[in-house]
Order: sequence, then C-alpha cells, then structure tokens
Amino acid sequence: MGPMIALETVRAPARIAFEEYISLPEAEVHARIRAARAHLGRDLVILGHHYQRDEVIQHADIRGDSLKLARQGVATEGVRHMVFCGVHFMAETADILSADDVSVTLPDLAAGCSMADMADLPSVTTCREELEDVLGGEAITPITYINSGADLKAFCGEHGGIVCTSSNARRILEWAFERSPRVLFFPDQHLGRNTALDMGIPPHQVVLWDPSRELGGNSEQALREARVILWAGHCSVHQMFLPEHVDRFRASYPGIRVIVHPECTREVVEKSDLSGSTEAIIRAIHSSPKGTRWVVGTELNLVNRIAREAAPDHEVHFLSPTYCVCSTMNRIDPPHLLWSLENLVAGAVVNRIRVPQHDREWARVALERMLALG
Ligand code: 13P
Ligand code: SF4
Repeated sequence: MGPMIALETVRAPARIAFEEYISLPEAEVHARIRAARAHLGRDLVILGHHYQRDEVIQHADIRGDSLKLARQGVATEGVRHMVFCGVHFMAETADILSADDVSVTLPDLAAGCSMADMADLPSVTTCREELEDVLGGEAITPITYINSGADLKAFCGEHGGIVCTSSNARRILEWAFERSPRVLFFPDQHLGRNTALDMGIPPHQVVLWDPSRELGGNSEQALREARVILWAGHCSVHQMFLPEHVDRFRASYPGIRVIVHPECTREVVEKSDLSGSTEAIIRAIHSSPKGTRWVVGTELNLVNRIAREAAPDHEVHFLSPTYCVCSTMNRIDPPHLLWSLENLVAGAVVNRIRVPQHDREWARVALERMLALG
C-alpha cells in the first residue's frame, strides 16, 4: 500500500438561514444593517433602484434608474460584493458588467420583472427566423429593453443588436437604423412605440408581433412595409395610468405639468407634457421653477418620495386613483437585505446572481455597444 494522502477538506462558510430574520424588531433590523455595512466597508456597494421602498433605499450607496445602475456595474474598482436592491434583470446586468471576482446578490430571488418574463429566447428566435423568411434575408437589428433576461441580451450581442433603457431608447434606435432598415424591439411594446412615433416614424410602419399568432398576427405585406416590429409585452404597473386620469388632473388643476414613464401607453404619453426614465422624472421636477405643480405617472414608492423631497417648492401628485406599486420590486425588504449582508460578514454569499459564461460574454457585447453611445 502506498503512502496515505491527507485530503484537506475545504469547508464553505456556514449560511445563516433566513428564518432567523423573520420576526426581528424593525429598529434592530436597521441597526444591524448599518453595522454590517460598516463592517464590510469598501468591499461592499449597495445599489438601489428608485422604485425600492423607503426602508430599503435609505441603505443604498447609489440610487438610480436602470442605465445609471448598469454603469455602476462597470465602476466596481476595489469592490468585492454588490448587493442589488432592485429586480433580477438588474442584478444580472450588474453581474455581466462587473469583474469576475465581484459577487452580485439579489436579496430576494422572487424579485423578478413580469415584463421581462413576457419575452423568451425560443419565441424571439422563431420571430427573427420568420421575419428573415418574409423579408428575403434582409437585415433586421434586434434591440432588447434592459428589462429582459441575460439570454435575450446575449441574443442581441450575437446578432448585431444592442440593449436600450428608457433613458436612451431614441439614441439606440438611431444607431440601429444606421445599420439596417428595420428593428425588432422587445419586450416592451410601449417604450418601442413611444420612441418610434416620437422619432417621426409613421404609425403604419410600426407593427405589433404577438408570438402566439402566425407571423405575429401580421400580413407579409405589413411586415415588408414595417420599420419597427414591436414585441407584445408590457408593464402591468404602467398600464394602470389612463388618458382620462390626465384629463381629470388638467381639469382640476389648470396649468399642472404631466410627466410619465415611457412604459405608459401611447395615449397617456401623448396627453402628457413630458415622458422619461425614473431619473429623468426626478431631474425634471427638481429643476423646475418653484411653485410648479406636477402629476406623475410611474410607480408609487418613487412618486411619494419625490413628493416629499420636492415639498414645499413643488406640489407633486400621483396620476392614478388606484394603488400602483411594483410588487416584485417590493419583495426586497429590510429583513432580506440584512440576511444578505450578515451572510457576507460571515463569509457566505447567498442568492448570488451568476450569468452562465456564454450569455455573459455576448450580453456584455450588447451592453457595451449601448454604453459606448454615452
Ligand atoms: P428606469 O430605467 O426608468 O428606472 O425604469 C426601469 C423600470 O423597470 C421601469 O418600470
Ligand atoms: Fe418590471 Fe414594470 Fe416592475 Fe418595472 S415596474 S420592474 S417594468 S414590472
């Protein structure tokens, strides 16, 4: 018998179970979040999307819209851990753009985006193939809204396409039209339609592709004439805002300024004074002359925060009479944040978001094309 080989066992640090956090008093949760942040110091950055609830966003090092937060993924020099208070596609984007040795955590894996789930790789691949058949192989540039899975971003990277956000959709469509006469835009039909029509593309050249119908529900002729093919996806939160809500505010508050997110329907955007990303909405209100009255069509957590922070210089209202919060954004709560942080302190990474290598490489190509446009 040969010499015995000592096998060294490498133990993963023990994970702390979430159950331990469920019934902690609120004040203790916040105090322990602050202590964990202090302990992790410059190794940690907490990113927070503007739709996060106040109890969570107060702990974020950086707040932003999707574009600003994506840029943070690149600027991770010296950081070892990113904790993403937002939704799944945002954490994936952070993982794709950050260095390999940076861990990205989503405190609750149930924080998805229902719009992102409306487009999947097999259906988008079929759509592109059918379009190529009808168009005789003519080039079509795929554009994915950042609210999409990493595999769809990778699809765009591999097929000469690009990613866009609500801040840069027009610039991205211009980029795409420099390369091909047509674009396939997914998953949000409303951002795509609002951008295309604002660019002056005639409505008959903007068609909707319903993946459950043959040729997306279009005739071959309509597809040959189309310049923008929109995927039939939408955000349920932003569909709650209706044109009559705008009419009602204008009737009750003459001179009120209306600003909405471009995920709202065309009818709502057309009746508004301005539309823009969450960051653009905040900027527009804070930089407006003192005394300006605003009504805002986007998620309620953000609108309530703007109303509080802009008072007393500006009066800010919420456009819908019903309660519209993004229930998945709201999945991130202080106990989940604390659980993620105390695990990091203990040396364990829970809920790590890791995009598989192939998707990571190609999605990065599509994201970098977008970021290169400034
Ligand atoms: P922003 O990029 O404008 O923050 O939008 C993200 C989003 O999901 C809106 O519903
Ligand atoms: Fe997705 Fe709509 Fe929530 Fe934005 S508000 S994350 S688009 S479900």
